[in-house]
Amino acid sequence: MTEHRFYGDLAPWWPLISPADEYAEEAAFAASLLCGARTVLELGSGGGHNAVHLKKQFDLTLVDIAPGMLEQSRKINPELPHHRGDMRDLRLGRAFDAVFIHDAITYMTTEGDLSKAIATAAAHADRVVLVPDDVKETFEPDTDHGGVDGDDGRAARYLSWTYDPDPTDTTTRTDYAFLLRDADGGISAAQETHVTGLFPRDTWLRLLRQHGFAAEAVTEVTSDDRTPRTFFVGRKTNPGARSNAGSSG
Ligand SMILES: C[S@@+](CC[C@H](N)C(=O)[O-])C[C@H]1O[C@@H](n2cnc3c(N)ncnc32)[C@H](O)[C@@H]1O
Repeated sequence: MTEHRFYGDLAPWWPLISPADEYAEEAAFAASLLCGARTVLELGSGGGHNAVHLKKQFDLTLVDIAPGMLEQSRKINPELPHHRGDMRDLRLGRAFDAVFIHDAITYMTTEGDLSKAIATAAAHADRVVLVPDDVKETFEPDTDHGGVDGDDGRAARYLSWTYDPDPTDTTTRTDYAFLLRDADGGISAAQETHVTGLFPRDTWLRLLRQHGFAAEAVTEVTSDDRTPRTFFVGRKTNPGARSNAGSSG
C-alpha cells in the first residue's frame, strides 16, 4: 500500500474530515450482521469511528497499518487494545468470534491482496463481515464533499472525485482536495490520490468460499443519499478450522 498523507501527517484531521457520528447508522447495520459474536477483531480500524459505536455491543480489538490513525483511535477508544499490523499478513495468535473489515478492505487492489486479507480473517475467526466502498456491478463515478468545524477551533473541508480510468482492471481512483483551517485561522491545502480496489460480487463470494466460508452478499439498508453498500458475510463451513491463529481466546 502506498503511504497516504490522509492516514499519516493528516491523520489528526480525520475527526473533522470523517466525523464519528456519521458512522452510527452503518455501524448499526454491521452490528446486526455481527449479532451473536462477543469478541470482534476489526482490521483497518482507522480512527476508530466504527469502534466508538460497535464497542457498546462487542469486545473489540483494533488493528491498523498507520500509526497516526491508531493514535487518533486511542484518543476516543482508550480502553480498547490497539495493534499495528497489515491485514494481509497479521497473525495475532488468538481467535475471535468474528472479524470485521469496513472501508479499509477497499485498499486491497489486487485479487491476490484481497485473498490474503480474507486468509487473515479465516485465521482469526469463524465469521467475517467485509464492507467494500463499491462493487463492480454498482460502481458509478462520483464527487462528494464534506468536513466539519471542530470544538478546538480547527475546521476541515474536502472534495473527493472518484472515477474508473481503466474499467478492465481491478482499481478505481479517488482524487482528494483538502482545505484545513488551524485554530489560529491559518489555512493550508493538501491534495492526494488514492487507488482502491473494485471487484465483482462473484469475486468476493468465490474468495470467501476458497477460504472455507459459506458466503452471502447482503445489501445495506441506509438512509444516506448514496448507493447502498454490499456487505459480504462469511461463516465457516467447518467452524474452528483455522491455521496460524493459536489457541482460542
Ligand atoms: C478509510 S480509513 C478507515 C476508517 C475507519 N473505518 C474508521 O472507523 O475510522 C482506511 C484505513 O485502512 C487502513 N489500511 C489500509 N491498508 C491497510 C492494510 N493493508 N492493513 C491494515 N490497515 C490498512 C488505513 O491505514 C486507514 O486507517
